[in-house]
Amino acid sequence: MKLSKRLKAIANLIPSNSNIIDIGADHALLDIYLTKEKNCQCLATDISAKCIEKANKNIQKYQVNVTTMVTDGLKNIPLHQEIIVMSGMGTYTILKILNQKITNDLIISSQNDIPYLRKALKKKGYYLYQEQIVKDKHFYVITYYKYKTGSKIKNLYNFSNDEYRNKLIKEYKLKYQNEKNLFYKFKYLHIMRQIKKGS
Ligand SMILES: C[S@@+](CC[C@H](N)C(=O)[O-])C[C@H]1O[C@@H](n2cnc3c(N)ncnc32)[C@H](O)[C@@H]1O
Repeated sequence: MKLSKRLKAIANLIPSNSNIIDIGADHALLDIYLTKEKNCQCLATDISAKCIEKANKNIQKYQVNVTTMVTDGLKNIPLHQEIIVMSGMGTYTILKILNQKITNDLIISSQNDIPYLRKALKKKGYYLYQEQIVKDKHFYVITYYKYKTGSKIKNLYNFSNDEYRNKLIKEYKLKYQNEKNLFYKFKYLHIMRQIKKGS
């Protein structure tokens, strides 16, 4: 089966034979792929029963063994050593879901406010392990975080893809130029410098 560039990049970060909990799995295409191609054991969950119905249809179609569950975030899911995947949700939803003490590996692709997500995960003891930035119409930052393993998160605005960095710099430059409030003007200037500085 063929995945979108974004889902393929997520799949590429996942080692073969992993145990996966995919929260907000929707269609469960990632889980089907991981089961078929990388021999993973996947639990595909979603808050929406309709999405899980869709996931079950796809699972039947591809004749794979993926467990599904309708639940809000990590509710009623006993955690062991699984990799938790969350993609296509916003930072605030993701942080609400992670509002408990966990040490599992995390692979996250948030739709917004990545520096804030990094700051919150840093506070929880997570380090950067691997990151992929892909362009598939939009840019997607896909990050593998590990609990106290990898590189400490120093610069919240350190992104490894030059095209993405240049796009952000352009956006913040425009915000800086149009901003009248000095506090925000300096904030945008600081962010631009952090992006340029990198690691
Ligand atoms: C845009 S889809 C992303 C689907 C898939 N993960 C992907 O990356 O293609 C987001 C999914 O997250 C689900 N979702 C939102 N909040 C959730 C929560 N608190 N717990 C579980 N799933 C949630 C939505 O129902 C939706 O199916």
